[in-house]
Amino acid sequence: MTQIARRMLSAKAEQFTESVIREMTRLALKHNAVNLSQGFPDFAAPEEIKEAARQAISDDINQYAITWGAKPLRDAIVEKFERTQGVRVDPEREITICCGSTEAMMSAMMAIINPGDEIVVFEPFYENYGPDAILSGATPRFVKMRPPVDENSFWSYDENELAAAFGPHTKAIILNTPNNPTGKVFTRTELEFIRDLCVRWNAFCITDEIYEHILYDGAEHISMARIDGMRERTIVINGMSKTYSVTGWRVGWAIAPPEATNSIRKVHDFLTVGAAAPLQQAGAIALRSPQSYYDKLAANYVEKRARLLKILELAGFTVFKPRGAYYIMTDISRFPDPDPVRFAAATKDVAFAKYLVQEIGVATVPGSSFYNDARDGANQVRFTFCKKESTLAAAESRLAKLAAGT
Ligand SMILES: Cc1ncc(COP(=O)(O)O)c(C=O)c1O
Repeated sequence: MTQIARRMLSAKAEQFTESVIREMTRLALKHNAVNLSQGFPDFAAPEEIKEAARQAISDDINQYAITWGAKPLRDAIVEKFERTQGVRVDPEREITICCGSTEAMMSAMMAIINPGDEIVVFEPFYENYGPDAILSGATPRFVKMRPPVDENSFWSYDENELAAAFGPHTKAIILNTPNNPTGKVFTRTELEFIRDLCVRWNAFCITDEIYEHILYDGAEHISMARIDGMRERTIVINGMSKTYSVTGWRVGWAIAPPEATNSIRKVHDFLTVGAAAPLQQAGAIALRSPQSYYDKLAANYVEKRARLLKILELAGFTVFKPRGAYYIMTDISRFPDPDPVRFAAATKDVAFAKYLVQEIGVATVPGSSFYNDARDGANQVRFTFCKKESTLAAAESRLAKLAAGT
């Protein structure tokens, strides 16, 4: 790039790369690979929800909704949050509907961050949080989560390290439970420990709860907003994408105390004006689905998790069994390094992911895209199992070639 061209671009945008996850989907298409990289379901969305969207368009709900969200959807969010978490929020002052939880997270960060502010982020983390921090101007302080050491343990962090990451400049901690990519579901005890730090340092907790209904082995999703003392300092980020298998609809929301909501709504208004009006209308119906809908969703994922765990184990991966969300983090140390000439990359995970997509025909996400320092994820890759049986079966036969070669 010439000097002049570089000077004309944003220094912030120069600090991060394109999304690795979304790039893997493009590579999967290019190499005709089975796509177990990006977390979007490849099965049909529920018929009633699709019908509700068609109906909304026919009913001419085709103009801008109120910028902070259509009232029927805000009301449905209030009802659902009270039903599932026992927390009552005000639809007029505490909810902002956005274009996906992605925009809700970005709007929330831009609404609260000032120069010099720090945010605490658990690592590995959903890759969007890195660019979110850069664009909003926050300095991230990363706290490592360590992989389980045996069948009975889960991803964990050191309480002293977490406490040391907080300080007078901390504006917020970013929490994601159930967690992508680890599948960790934060327990009440862990949430209370985080609460004490937030209260001590007068910090927000921004909690991404998009996988709230995808849980295993009796794990319970507890929203930070439900923890004593946190209602006033929690910003809940959520959306329709994962719970209703409609990642392309781009409907998400932020639930926040009134003052924070005021700021979030302003940022959101000037970023996107609003999410698609007919899809918000359909959302109001989706969120009132009976409990049986959520039970079935979770039960389907229990089966898919078991299926992919077995496929990966047979192929030679060390797997970390998730307790929530629909990803499996794996350790690839047991595999030899791919040919450094054909699959040139700075870290083994990237070379391995290239090899897997080109030679084996399965797309995955290199572990380094979930870490600040790429070397920390060099021995990990992440697979998703939000796929129909035929996709998992195709992955099974392709990954079997890998086992044969090791
Ligand atoms: C933790 C997490 N948050 C947010 C998103 C994006 O959600 P949305 O489609 O609502 O923007 C994803 C998608 O993979 C995710 O894993």
